[in-house]
Amino acid sequence: MKKILVAPSTDPCDIKDLAIYVKELEKQGADWIHCDIMDGKFVKNRTYDHLVFAFLRKATSLPLDVHLMVENPMNVVDNYVKYGANSITVHYEAFHDIIELITALQEIRRKGVKVGISIKPQTQVEKLSHLINYVDLVLIMSVEPGTSGQTFQKESLIKIAYLNKKRAELGLNFLIEVDGGVNTTNAPIIAVSGADVLVSGSAIFNSNDRRQTMQILRGREGE
Ligand code: DX5
Ligand code: ZN
Repeated sequence: MKKILVAPSTDPCDIKDLAIYVKELEKQGADWIHCDIMDGKFVKNRTYDHLVFAFLRKATSLPLDVHLMVENPMNVVDNYVKYGANSITVHYEAFHDIIELITALQEIRRKGVKVGISIKPQTQVEKLSHLINYVDLVLIMSVEPGTSGQTFQKESLIKIAYLNKKRAELGLNFLIEVDGGVNTTNAPIIAVSGADVLVSGSAIFNSNDRRQTMQILRGREGE
């Protein structure tokens, strides 16, 4: 069976407790830390910026996976590169046209970090077909971005399966990451559909055994 990576989201945690939470996640076996950056414009909530992110970089040696839910993401990318992001994902919906988007993806990659593209639930997955050549990961939003604790939209499974098939057909090796409403009940079907990285906010944050929850999400309970 292929290895599933678990990327706990920082979103449910209060900003003042973030560094402690991230250390705890590392201790309990998280694979990556998924950093949800919201600007109050692209989505209505605001989370934190690169200055808080810089503290997270000091708190953990795990890969930091930055999910930019912001308007004009290229204005802030350098801040996250500078403070040690390992991957940076931008939203398809944050760009005006495909040329602008491809240029941005190439530029992020040139900065020496992994680059990802994300789509909201309303965006058709076929829109990504000209972009998957340029990315290291595709982030499928399985809830409307903006807040944790929502219900997984099962239509996302079709998008995941589509990307999994395309990836095999084209011989590409981008990762498929899924974000929103992922929990121990739906993780197996999401993995079987083709996901490689499961982001999880509330299911991990609210668990009283975070190590075990992450193991179940990976499908490796009891190992
Ligand atoms: C939603 C964020 C997610 C979210 C996940 O806008 O991108 O990363 O925090 O949280 P859960 O797993 O609770 O849906
Ligand atoms: Zn996210």
